Amino acid sequence: MGDGGGAMTMKRLDGRKVIVTGGAGGIGAACARRYAAEGAQVAIGDIDLDRAQVVAAEVGGIAERCDHTDAAQCARLVQVALDRFGAVDALHNNAGIGWTGAFDAIDAAQARRLLDVLLVGPVLMTQAALPALRRAAAARGDAALLFTASGLGLHGRPRISLYAAAKHGVIGLMRSLALELGPEGIRVNAVCPGIVDTRMVRTTTAAWGETDQVLAAFRDASPLRRDVSTDDVAASAAFLLSGDARSLTGTALLVDAGAHEA
Ligand SMILES: NC(=O)c1ccc[n+]([C@@H]2O[C@H](COP(=O)([O-])OP(=O)(O)OC[C@H]3O[C@@H](n4cnc5c(N)ncnc54)[C@H](O)[C@@H]3O)[C@@H](O)[C@H]2O)c1
Repeated sequence: MGDGGGAMTMKRLDGRKVIVTGGAGGIGAACARRYAAEGAQVAIGDIDLDRAQVVAAEVGGIAERCDHTDAAQCARLVQVALDRFGAVDALHNNAGIGWTGAFDAIDAAQARRLLDVLLVGPVLMTQAALPALRRAAAARGDAALLFTASGLGLHGRPRISLYAAAKHGVIGLMRSLALELGPEGIRVNAVCPGIVDTRMVRTTTAAWGETDQVLAAFRDASPLRRDVSTDDVAASAAFLLSGDARSLTGTALLVDAGAHEA
């Protein structure tokens, strides 16, 4: 979970107006904190409004209840951010749910639900934000779209097939949108965490064993022998949104202590 490593003085996101989905906890909350610490105004959309409001109050931002699988709720989140900030120049599609299990055990309803939340949600949220991102890109020459994909968007693993399939889809979406939107000045990238200790991981690692042991196994198998924290992911996400990444688009940035090489 958060380790305080996000505390910093650099203001690479000064003046930026960022929407983060799934910012009520875990990686999204760490990103909201980091973006605000770097000078951004932050709007959080989440199905869990109570926890989103706590994070928003902490970062001086705003929170809106938003299920990103519902286009009308996505549109409302964008409107609320526009009303408050006057513009939106970055969208971080981060909201998601987990799942592990044997491939044979997944039923059609579960498969559709996973694809809906992990893939259709980011599509609808992006469509809702695109007009604002286009205006921001035209006005300042740079707008950014970021996805929280996963290491499992780039490689497979047993007993997490549907989640990996959806995250591979997110990477395909990101790479295609990078080509489609680049000429309009919108950069599109993904941050790809390895396993990170969050509520999602705590509730969905059952098919792999007891969570602490699963986390320890990933850490010990990684070349760096370290846990990846939510703040580690947030640091990379802030970089991708910032002007320091102005020549990066179509990039899937792995933040996994090298675990994919193990
Ligand atoms: N934790 C990991 O190991 C890990 C690794 C790779 C990728 N990810 C991805 O990181 C992202 C954040 O996950 P996390 O680990 O911080 O988990 P988390 O459970 O702490 O956070 C996920 C957030 O998304 C919100 N959410 C869920 N469904 C939603 C919906 N339909 N609309 C809006 N909000 C919704 C939840 O309320 C929650 O606040 C997810 O996309 C996840 O797939 C996580």
